[in-house]
Amino acid sequence: MGKRVAVVLAGCGVFDGSEIHEASAVLVHLSRGGAEVKIFAPNIEQRDVVNHLKGSPADEKRNVLVESARLARGNIQDLAELKVSEFDAVIFPGGFGVAKNLCSWAVDGKNCTVNEHVNSTLQAFHSAKKPIGLCCISPVLAAKVFPGCEVTVGQDKNADGRFPDAETASAIAELGCKHICKDVSESHVDKGNKIVTTCAFMCKAPLHEIFDGIGTMVQEVLKLA
Ligand SMILES: *[C@@H]1O[C@H](CO)[C@@H](O)[C@H](O)[C@H]1NC(C)=O
Ligand SMILES: *[C@@H]1O[C@H](CO)[C@@H](O)[C@H](O)[C@H]1NC(C)=O
Repeated sequence: MGKRVAVVLAGCGVFDGSEIHEASAVLVHLSRGGAEVKIFAPNIEQRDVVNHLKGSPADEKRNVLVESARLARGNIQDLAELKVSEFDAVIFPGGFGVAKNLCSWAVDGKNCTVNEHVNSTLQAFHSAKKPIGLCCISPVLAAKVFPGCEVTVGQDKNADGRFPDAETASAIAELGCKHICKDVSESHVDKGNKIVTTCAFMCKAPLHEIFDGIGTMVQEVLKLA
């Protein structure tokens, strides 16, 4: 029997939704690992819509569940319907949509609020001692919901120019969590909390290195499941 894994999306597109390559990498590695996957997203309006050609805000409204359905090839459910008893693990790909739609980190940093269904999903998997996988900016969700947990978003200093958002690590530490420095090819396992994280696009790295790093996260999640 394959492990049953829920994947939670935040829209479709790096600047206002889930990062498409990360979502795809998670799904490819889960497929290779023999997992049975179901995809979810909150049925809420996006915080904003970004024209990805111009990189500027677009004057329109979009729904996170409807946009995420693009990545799920239409096979998706409202996050409010997720039942933890039907799954062995949950994974959150990254992208600005996590920081805009699943929580308000993009605006409020460490003072952010977390969407109630995202919070209750994370709490439910954690209480059931089922693993939680997160990549890119998604580890801030764990940092906010589980003070004291260990996560990585890559490096805490931008020494080599590959980690332009290194200050995210300090914000995580200010929340009372332990930031573990890891390179893009690695993931960190917080064994006590069963939280597995990898930095993905927080690192300016070639796409295949990000893909492989996400692979280590998915494999660790499946091992713990
Ligand atoms: C968080 O809240 C504190 C206290 O209200 C404030 O000083 C700080 O600037 C806020 N941080 C962010 C990133 O909004
Ligand atoms: C998550 O939900 C719990 C239980 O309702 C609540 O105590 C906690 O403050 C929430 N956490 C966040 C970050 O919203």
